[in-house]
Amino acid sequence: MGSADDQYRKFADLTFEDFQRMAQDDSLSPYEKTGSPDSYRKGKEGVTFQSILSNLPLLNEQGKTVLEVGPGCSDLPRLLINLCRERGHKLLLVDSEEMLAHLPEENFIRKFPAYFPQCESIFTDYAAKVDIVIIYSVLHYVFVEGNVWDFLDRSLELLAEGGEMLVGDIPNVSKRRRFFSSARGVKFHQQFMNTQDLPEVHFNRLERHRIDDAVILGLIARARNQGYEAYLLPQPPDLPMANRREDVLIRRP
Ligand SMILES: C[S@@+](CC[C@H](N)C(=O)[O-])C[C@H]1O[C@@H](n2cnc3c(N)ncnc32)[C@H](O)[C@@H]1O
Repeated sequence: MGSADDQYRKFADLTFEDFQRMAQDDSLSPYEKTGSPDSYRKGKEGVTFQSILSNLPLLNEQGKTVLEVGPGCSDLPRLLINLCRERGHKLLLVDSEEMLAHLPEENFIRKFPAYFPQCESIFTDYAAKVDIVIIYSVLHYVFVEGNVWDFLDRSLELLAEGGEMLVGDIPNVSKRRRFFSSARGVKFHQQFMNTQDLPEVHFNRLERHRIDDAVILGLIARARNQGYEAYLLPQPPDLPMANRREDVLIRRP
């Protein structure tokens, strides 16, 4: 068993099909099925959920329509399901059939087994009717195998007036580079990896399949140019990847 970083690499660069396969692999924990080593998520999903809640105040109201794209099957969607039950929200979930099969069937939940946005029925039934959209730890997979611009545009299409959308937990290679070039980043790396080596950081190098500042700021600009307010937010420092991930919040005026 290697370091947590080695374990994390084992789960990097996954496709939707990989997630389908992992969802059916009973040797994996619910965290591993959703692409995280246990050390990154186990016992930490409560703080992650709190950070989602603090960015999406409409979740604390009553009787809203909530959509989560890519809920996976760990504690996070279950915390959301409990909240939706308490608050009388309707909950729409889009993920593979294999992943959704791990989540309960309840009368306020509607499941869409599909690769978003390839699910016309959600657009027919919910265009401009969803109050809260949650996309958490999903965008970097879409960046590699899908079309992030279409993914963004079609998510925005579902948002109701006054609605809010969190595109959370986006790994940003530019942020990572800045952190690991700093004295605090070097110390963090050396303690975490138990080494005296310096972290590997490359500037001016092509990083295929990695989201950087240009992509994140481009998504924000695109949402704004289409009439939505969009903001880049830091993650709370107690989240496991806060030094290299960040969140985008979008509101429809
Ligand atoms: C890393 S997991 C994150 C799960 C959950 N949001 C969390 O943070 O624990 C990514 C999930 O997104 C799903 N996924 C990836 N691309 C998707 C897409 N285009 N449409 C729907 N689900 C997608 C995968 O099947 C997987 O369940």
